Amino acid sequence: MRTYRIALLPGDGIGQEVIPAAVEVLKAVAQEFALSFQTFEWGCEYYRRTGTMMPEDGLERLKGFDAILLGAIGHPTVPDHISLRQLLLRIRFGFDLYVNLRPVEILPGLASPLRTKSAEDIRMIFVRENTEGEYCGLGGRFKAGTPDEVAIQQSVFTRKGVERILRYAFELARRRPRKRLASATKSNALNYTMVLWDEVLGALVREYPDVAVANYHVDALAARMITHPESLDVVVASNLFADILTDLGGALQGSLGLAASANFNPAHRSGPPLFEPVHGSAPDIAGRGISNPIAAIWAASMMLEHLGEPGAAARILTGLKTVTAEGRVRTPDLGGKSTTEEFAAEVMTQLARRPAPPPAS
Ligand code: NAD
Ligand code: IPM
Ligand code: MN
Repeated sequence: MRTYRIALLPGDGIGQEVIPAAVEVLKAVAQEFALSFQTFEWGCEYYRRTGTMMPEDGLERLKGFDAILLGAIGHPTVPDHISLRQLLLRIRFGFDLYVNLRPVEILPGLASPLRTKSAEDIRMIFVRENTEGEYCGLGGRFKAGTPDEVAIQQSVFTRKGVERILRYAFELARRRPRKRLASATKSNALNYTMVLWDEVLGALVREYPDVAVANYHVDALAARMITHPESLDVVVASNLFADILTDLGGALQGSLGLAASANFNPAHRSGPPLFEPVHGSAPDIAGRGISNPIAAIWAASMMLEHLGEPGAAARILTGLKTVTAEGRVRTPDLGGKSTTEEFAAEVMTQLARRPAPPPAS
């Protein structure tokens, strides 16, 4: 039987709540394959003890795993630019996981805050550039702490980086029934980086005549997500633009606790792919056991899909959808009173009711 080695990084705050829920569900669907888990307690608590967010050789230690499942990083006691750059961004950049895929869909039984829109109207998937752009981390501060202080934060857009993410988005759009691609630009103001983005897009359009392409300025695209969500299918955007748009996507789904994501390199194995909820460590609710585990469970399903276990991945999603459709068990962010554990237990009950079909022989 095939065994997948999964590195667990629950991290901080509600990461410690939602990852156990996702692991429980993963164990329940591991029948025709096995999962072995190793937990790494890297995060802000580790930082307080050691002065770093993860060991120097952290990437080496993760390298041999088949996938990484991460909860959330960040705690009010550690500056975010340290905690996130030393851990999450280090993994994304270090393993060159250049695609960050983020579905935005309405689950059965859950109403979008756009009351007139339903599951048919909101079915987008975001392709986020994940290894350069506004997040490259280049810059500096000059005359620090003085009234004349200057801070510079550079963006780096490479032709190779832009082309590979746009190409991935075109290929994804081509495989979906609607074959539509929206790109987020801002070339009216960002006259170098986003002009390069537009030019590479323009060149690729000719290679994919079957894909209907629209290039929107990112501000207008944000508005379009509210006014005409049904017009959006695959959306491709730079690192920062997609970061912002996908929290809006989570809000359209009904809660940030629903938005899942996959980080990977589709071209070659530069390191294990990373699966995580889009949300953060939610210090405002952390420790109360009421965080919504749906995004983490959905991310676990994306992980199994990516590992080549579509049957088990689909079982998880069906289990989730049955629970949301019934509507009895909901966490407070969705207007319910249930805890994280109660929600996960309900998903487990659903999975037990629908055992895996016997293996084809
Ligand atoms: P956040 O996503 O943690 O929280 C924003 C709001 O959404 C809060 O009101 C929170 O209670 C709610 N929320 C988020 N996830 C939820 C869930 N699963 N169930 C119920 N409610 C949920 O964003 P923030 O407050 O801006 O950031 C908090 C910390 O998390 C910061 O340190 C930030 O840098 C970090 N962060 C980490 C990641 C990550 O590790 N992937 C992502 C985003 C933010
Ligand atoms: C996300 C998060 C991260 C990002 C932060 C925590 C660095 O917001 O995954 O969306 O901006 O990429
Ligand atoms: Mn974000």
